[in-house]
Amino acid sequence: MPDLIPIKKSHIKYYNNFPLYYISKNGEALLYKNADKKLDKDLLERNQYPQFFIHKEDKVSVVEKLQRVLNIKLARAISSKGLYAIKKSLCNIVEEALSGPLGVTLESLPETIEILFYGVKKNSDLLDALTAINNKSSKVVEHSVNVLALTAQYCFFKRYSEEQIKTFCLCALLHDFGSSKIDKKIIETKEKLTDKEYSIYKTHTIKGFREIELYPTFDKSIGITALEHHERLDGSGYPHGIKQISFEAQLVGLIDSYEALKYQDKTFRKALKPYDALQIIKTDVVAEKYNKAIFVDLCSCLIK
Ligand SMILES: [Fe+2]
Ligand SMILES: [Fe+2]
Repeated sequence: MPDLIPIKKSHIKYYNNFPLYYISKNGEALLYKNADKKLDKDLLERNQYPQFFIHKEDKVSVVEKLQRVLNIKLARAISSKGLYAIKKSLCNIVEEALSGPLGVTLESLPETIEILFYGVKKNSDLLDALTAINNKSSKVVEHSVNVLALTAQYCFFKRYSEEQIKTFCLCALLHDFGSSKIDKKIIETKEKLTDKEYSIYKTHTIKGFREIELYPTFDKSIGITALEHHERLDGSGYPHGIKQISFEAQLVGLIDSYEALKYQDKTFRKALKPYDALQIIKTDVVAEKYNKAIFVDLCSCLIK
């Protein structure tokens, strides 16, 4: 299925002016409708259409409008609705961003962070509460939103400037961006990865960096965090085994490990309680894999 991208069912209405495809029982991509035929409003409302796919180039023209709508929904959720609505909106935005194509999607993320920023100013417990909600989105989406919320919590605790907080948040949100370039089976599996799968998985760092680097409007630290968040200060990390790691990647890398231990309920390992997750990371701090000062600040921030 070259160049066809799946469309989220709840977003079908934004694609009414484009040719839509579906997959036949034989696994063939077939045209469902061309550009001038419109989808039936009733069927749309009742969610009775099959899984549609769209051409990559067509999606580019819709993404800008879609991201704007999603950002407006997030702003509304923050001003008037509950935490579930906020988490759902955020997950929707991140899901769109990670499903590519990149260009416009990435351009709209700073606005998302801006909206979230003012939400936190209104309600300082917002981030804490957001990480506690499981939205049942895909693993990468849920994980990226949780790492974003924890990073933002850390930054507010450290009283970083607004500009710094926004950059750190984008580093967190996009740290696993390269995962969208890797076989979904490897990313979404609940089983332990084989050695071969793990070596493929590790390339998400380089793939994310290369992709983000194509967008010069983004702060350099965002691509570098995608590249270095699995590096460790003792040189035991990947992809390059370096010891000089950017501060952003050290912070996001530590929060990334904490989030994975605490929130992901994989079949081969149960999710840990915050204290137990921090104990495991502490062993790696003592082994000089992580930055001790960041760890101490994260502990203080989480138990404040
Ligand atoms: Fe990662
Ligand atoms: Fe991650």
